Amino acid sequence: MSLVSRYRDRLPIGPATPDVSLGEGGTPLLRAPRLSEELGCELWLKWEGANPTGSFKDRGMTVAVAKAAEDGADAVVCASTGNTSASAAAYAARAGLRAVVLLPAGGVALGKLAQARATGASLLEVQGSFDEALEAARELGRRGTHVLVNSLNPHRLEGQKTAAFEVVEQLGATPDVLALPYGGGGNTRAYALGFAELGASPQLLAVQAASRDRTAATAIRIATPAHRDQAEAAADVVTVDDDALLAAWRDLARLEGLFCEPASAAGLAGLRARRPAPASRVVCVLTGHGLKDPAAVDATAPPPVPVAPDPDAIAAAAR
Ligand code: F0G
Repeated sequence: MSLVSRYRDRLPIGPATPDVSLGEGGTPLLRAPRLSEELGCELWLKWEGANPTGSFKDRGMTVAVAKAAEDGADAVVCASTGNTSASAAAYAARAGLRAVVLLPAGGVALGKLAQARATGASLLEVQGSFDEALEAARELGRRGTHVLVNSLNPHRLEGQKTAAFEVVEQLGATPDVLALPYGGGGNTRAYALGFAELGASPQLLAVQAASRDRTAATAIRIATPAHRDQAEAAADVVTVDDDALLAAWRDLARLEGLFCEPASAAGLAGLRARRPAPASRVVCVLTGHGLKDPAAVDATAPPPVPVAPDPDAIAAAAR
C-alpha cells in the first residue's frame, strides 16, 4: 500500500489528489547488534535507502508532486545536492510533469546524476553553491511558472513526517533518542512534526558536518540551512568532522551490512560523539543508499585484486 493511502487521514490528500506513487515508505527498521554493543544501547537503523529512488526524499516528493499535479502545474523545480533531484525527476515523470533540476557545480554524486538524467529531467549545473541554486529555484517558484519541490514546500514535510509514524509502529514504542543527518534541516522538522502529531517527544539529535561547505558528504554540503531556526528549536545539534563521518559510514557497512551514502552515516557519528544513556532505545536514520555515491568507497576500501581463475591462486589471495 502506498504511503499516501496508508496515512491518508493524516496527509493533505483529498478526493481530487492524483495517486503519484512509486511504492515509497514502509522501509525496514533493523536491529544493529554490533553497534548496540559498542554504544551500550539498543540501536535500530531506519533504512531509508530502501525507498524507490534510494532516499527518504520520496516520502515528501510523492505528496508534493501529487499536490502540484492536483493544482494544475506543468513543471516542478528544485535545487539539490542530488537526492531531491533524483526523487523530483522520478515522481515528475510518474505524474507526467516536467522537472527542472538545479545542481551545484561539481558537488553531486554520480548515481544521483544518473537517476535524474535517466528520468528525463532538465538538468542544469549552476555555477555556484547549493544556497545560490536554491535561491534561484525559490524565485522561479514565486514567479508561478514552476512549483518548488524543495522542502520549503510544506507538502514535502507532510510526507516525510510519516517516517516518525513508522518508527513508532515498528518499535511498538517511542524511541528515547532519534539521530539523523542535518543538512538544510527539513527532515529534522518533519520527524519533529510526525512525533508531535503522535504526542511523542523523543530526543532528536541532528548531526551536521563540521565543514558544512566542504564536507566529503556531498548530500549535506549546505552552508546555510534553510530550516535552521525551526530545526534547532526541535533538536539538539551535534557537529562531527569528516573523519568521524567516514568511519561511521565504513562501520555501518562492515559491522551491520548496510551500505548507505556517506552523509547518511552522520547519525551514527553523532551517537558516537554524544553517547546515549545506557540501555536506552535509539533509532539512527540512514537517509540514502550507498549506490548513490559509488566513487566514495575509494576512501574506505581497496579495489578488487586481480587473480587467475585457479582455485589455489584464489585461496592464496583471499586471506
Ligand atoms: N541525507 C541525505 C542522503 C540527503 O540527501 C540530505 C539532503 C540529508 C540527509 C539532509 O536532509 O536537508 O532535510 O536536513 N539532501 C538535499 C538534496 C539537500 O538536495 O537532496 P535535510
